[in-house]
Amino acid sequence: MPQSNTTTDALHFVKRYLHQLKEDGETRLSISQESLQTLTGMPAKYFRLVNKENNPPSYIRETPPHPKDTPSLAILEKHVVAANLVKELGTLRDIMVFAVGNPNADLMFVGEAPGAEEEKKREPFVGPAGQLLTKIIQAMGLKRTDVYISNVVKYRPAIGNGQNQGPKNRPPSPEEIDAFLPFLLQEIDTVQPEVIVALGGTAAKGLLNIDESVGRMRGQAHQLNGVPVLVTYHPSYLLRNHALSERRKVWEDMLDVMARLGLPITEKQKNFFR
Ligand code: URA
Repeated sequence: MPQSNTTTDALHFVKRYLHQLKEDGETRLSISQESLQTLTGMPAKYFRLVNKENNPPSYIRETPPHPKDTPSLAILEKHVVAANLVKELGTLRDIMVFAVGNPNADLMFVGEAPGAEEEKKREPFVGPAGQLLTKIIQAMGLKRTDVYISNVVKYRPAIGNGQNQGPKNRPPSPEEIDAFLPFLLQEIDTVQPEVIVALGGTAAKGLLNIDESVGRMRGQAHQLNGVPVLVTYHPSYLLRNHALSERRKVWEDMLDVMARLGLPITEKQKNFFR
């Protein structure tokens, strides 16, 4: 008789149980910090087994906020460093850039992944796109330290073997984004922002699992575990496309964010691009 693999059997059992819950109409699931850590720390081969049908890990995505199980950001950062699933990808460079800003912020910005400048300074959004984001934040009457700034992927994606990459960057792949999603969701649970702004299509797809253009996703509040997510263009798009119309769209999105947060909006701010 072939020997049974206990981990594989256990995962199949969990999968069947989750399917049963879904069939019974459950759409949300609470998962303890310890279990989540075990799942995300598992070698990728087991994870792929659970995800054999190529489904996104929706049972993790739908985890509702659970303050008791919420780790501090410092602990979460250690979990990311230790995560086998992330290590085993083998497609990322090895300097972690976690996040920056106010861990109790009402407003959270999420970009795609650190680039060369961010890797050097170990801080998200400090290169040219980051400087434009900083200007946008200041135009809203805020400082970088008032908001929380993170990325869907916490390491700079490698090009080739990552050596001699110079300043070249690439967007993260869906596999890279999926590997970080459980951590990003925990990060959101920990910060508990009132509003999340997804910067660009990659961040929006990673957060919301919707495959649409930014143009179609912006202008409405999507929901992620009860937190409104507004989608806007990535600042690097504005650096490539200088049209006033595109800057205006991003600014309109930021006015929407300010209104949702109850921030004061001056006449000057209202008319910036009019
Ligand atoms: N672009 C991103 O999406 N994130 C960064 O941190 C920097 C540039």
